[in-house]
Amino acid sequence: MINYGFWKKLKKPIFALAPMAGVTDAAFRFMIAKYGKPDVMWTEFVACDGLCSQGKDALLRDLQYDKKERPIVAQVFGATPEHFYQTALLMQELGFDGIDINMGCPDKNIQKQNAGAKLIQSPKLAQAIITETKRGAGKLPVSVKTRIGYTKNTLDEWLPYILETEPAAITIHGRTKKEMSDVPAHWDVIAHGVALTEQYYGGKDRPFVLGNGDVQTLEEAFDKVRQYGVDGVMVGRGMFGNPWFFADKDKAKKRGSVVTTEILLQEKIAALLEHTELFEQFFGMGNRFDVMKKHYKAYIHGFDGARELRAKLMASRDKNDVTNTLRKEGYL
Ligand SMILES: Cc1cc2nc3c(=O)[nH]c(=O)nc-3n(C[C@H](O)[C@H](O)[C@H](O)COP(=O)(O)O)c2cc1C
Repeated sequence: MINYGFWKKLKKPIFALAPMAGVTDAAFRFMIAKYGKPDVMWTEFVACDGLCSQGKDALLRDLQYDKKERPIVAQVFGATPEHFYQTALLMQELGFDGIDINMGCPDKNIQKQNAGAKLIQSPKLAQAIITETKRGAGKLPVSVKTRIGYTKNTLDEWLPYILETEPAAITIHGRTKKEMSDVPAHWDVIAHGVALTEQYYGGKDRPFVLGNGDVQTLEEAFDKVRQYGVDGVMVGRGMFGNPWFFADKDKAKKRGSVVTTEILLQEKIAALLEHTELFEQFFGMGNRFDVMKKHYKAYIHGFDGARELRAKLMASRDKNDVTNTLRKEGYL
């Protein structure tokens, strides 16, 4: 029987914040939970091997969260089933609402470890990993995030392996590993994934299927649900510097159409500062500060003078630099 945990309590369509290493850290998740909370949030991925090693404490920093972010799912990666078991026990202890297994990351380092998207080529190992995660997860639901294939679309062969293990949810990023993020996501293949899932379970309760790839606005997210029959949509890059992405989702779900509230420049500047402050509180202002610059690019665009201000913010090294620049340029 499928253990759904919090998943069954969500009102469809389900909107999710994608896991993004170096982006969906505790500071950014806090901002999103405050200004535009999706139905479910993911942490960045964390290495199971690392969590089972002496270096564990350093990784726990990536697993900080605030209760406002609930339901929050911890994403993990690796290739050693025993470590997934241990990690799942830890996630229970840390109070997460769910555990997600990364089977889609194309990064070379991750491939070398036989983890991430590489698991598409080792479906039996992938199954063992899901089984062990479930064993350690207790009441927590286990989900999987994957791609449509490794070098080509093999969803017809690959997906049934996952379905056999009865996860609570599956997120399908509509590209192969080889395609990285270089081509438009194949939403028609994602739709086929929904059909395969329905077929496999023959009308009985089945895992939720979320689609993922290239969604830039809330309106597009609703369109994808209508057009491709997914239970929900996960959004990644569209969230950069945009914690308001999902702000209008509840109204839109009720009304059946999206009316987006315009975010004023003043609000964007205030959020940029608040985000920077939170980042400093969580991580200090060392090397990691470059993470914030990805967000600045997105916060600061679409108004006269945006390009110049962006360039100045790119040269900043800490919160004081940012505040001084904003003041000097007349934005504060
Ligand atoms: C900077 C960055 C980091 C990412 N890190 C992860 C990760 O840790 N785990 C994961 O499953 N996917 C990761 N992804 C992939 C995203 O979750 C998502 O599948 C992909 O960006 C496609 O969705 P989008 O077009 O909405 O961005 C990352 C993507 C980006 C851009």
